[in-house]
Amino acid sequence: MSHDFGPAVALSCRECGARYPLGPSFACQECFGPLEAAYEFGRVTREEIAAGPASIWRYRALLPVPADVATKPNMNPGWTKLVRAGNLGRALGIRSLHVKDDSGNPTHSFKDRVVAIAVEAARTFGFHTLSCSSTGNLAGAVTAAAARAGLDACVFIPANLEEAKIAMARVFGGRLIGIDGTYDEVNRFCSELIGDPLGDKWGFVNVNLRPYYAEGSKTLAYEIAEQLGWRLPEQIVIPIASGSQLTKIDKGFKELIALGLVEDAPYKIFGAQAAGCSPVSAAYKAGHDVVQPVKPDTIAKSLAIGNPADGPYVLDIARRTGGAVEDVTDPEIVAAIKLLASTEGIFAETAGGVTVGVLKKLVESGRLDPEAETVVLNTGDGLKTLDAVAGESSRPTAVIRPSLDAFRAAV
Ligand SMILES: Cc1ncc(COP(=O)(O)O)c(C=O)c1O
Ligand SMILES: [Zn+2]
Repeated sequence: MSHDFGPAVALSCRECGARYPLGPSFACQECFGPLEAAYEFGRVTREEIAAGPASIWRYRALLPVPADVATKPNMNPGWTKLVRAGNLGRALGIRSLHVKDDSGNPTHSFKDRVVAIAVEAARTFGFHTLSCSSTGNLAGAVTAAAARAGLDACVFIPANLEEAKIAMARVFGGRLIGIDGTYDEVNRFCSELIGDPLGDKWGFVNVNLRPYYAEGSKTLAYEIAEQLGWRLPEQIVIPIASGSQLTKIDKGFKELIALGLVEDAPYKIFGAQAAGCSPVSAAYKAGHDVVQPVKPDTIAKSLAIGNPADGPYVLDIARRTGGAVEDVTDPEIVAAIKLLASTEGIFAETAGGVTVGVLKKLVESGRLDPEAETVVLNTGDGLKTLDAVAGESSRPTAVIRPSLDAFRAAV
């Protein structure tokens, strides 16, 4: 059976460069390094992209998908708003600031981008069940995409996730298995399932389909550049869980330069973690190349991966581009959610609180240039993590009788 992966021609090892045919494989047989999609791109023009659909499929010529992908019953994530954040910029003393707001995706997080690509691969390989290990957002994106693609879904999460994320993953149907353990334990369990006959026809989007799945994050890089008028931002702040999104945004920027779609200008990539799960930030600060796993304890549950697969690549990118990796405490995350909401009218989930909190810390400590064009990511919707701002914020500012006198007395 011939597989159509568009411009992707092989899987290549990110460690030793060994190449393999496109298939549902994810680790190098020579060195056990992770595999990723490798391409032979044709000529791609800004005009062709601009004439495409208002979704990630406008970049199909740069993704491991067939050319007719947009015509199939699939999700249409992407082309989310790049919001000019003048008020937040003024509050933080940054001259030119944008928020890339991925809460506007079909299931309200950036995960719809990656899953849309993985579903294509799952169908191509004849998998009947779509699966994943998830910190919450991916679970919802997978069950929604499976519903639309007519595939079964069975997804695995740490049992203690936010109610809204659980409800969202369940409403689309399929099975949602809570595991009494951390995300890292859930992920290890999923790897075991792949080796078992039970999981034989299962596509785990972030395990055996990872080389395809991860490419979806490149679309964030493409969109930001296109929305800035085909320019790269000078600085960008990206949240880190596994670190995949950050490494693929860097890959996307490099591809745009190589294809002549943007000018070759320097950009700095900053990674953001919660202090309660900051193994990459800790390694960055200690000057290490390896990431020491941790046990997470933070309200930013979507970022709570204690043993991030792409951690060493993130360190490399932050250092190579002149960026940094920083972390913020849970109270700082909540304060940042409120700051973004009260300045820009954007309600971020805790992951967005992490990026905005880190942005604030970086500019205050002089590591982020306040004069340079800056983009900060909000990767999910605050309605998914309401508990983070509960308490005082979950009550009206005043409760009064419906009379003018009562209102006058209250204001
Ligand atoms: C809202 C949100 N932002 C960011 C991330 C980070 O993704 P990555 O694992 O690619 O680093 C996640 C991962 O689950 C997430 O749910
Ligand atoms: Zn290798």
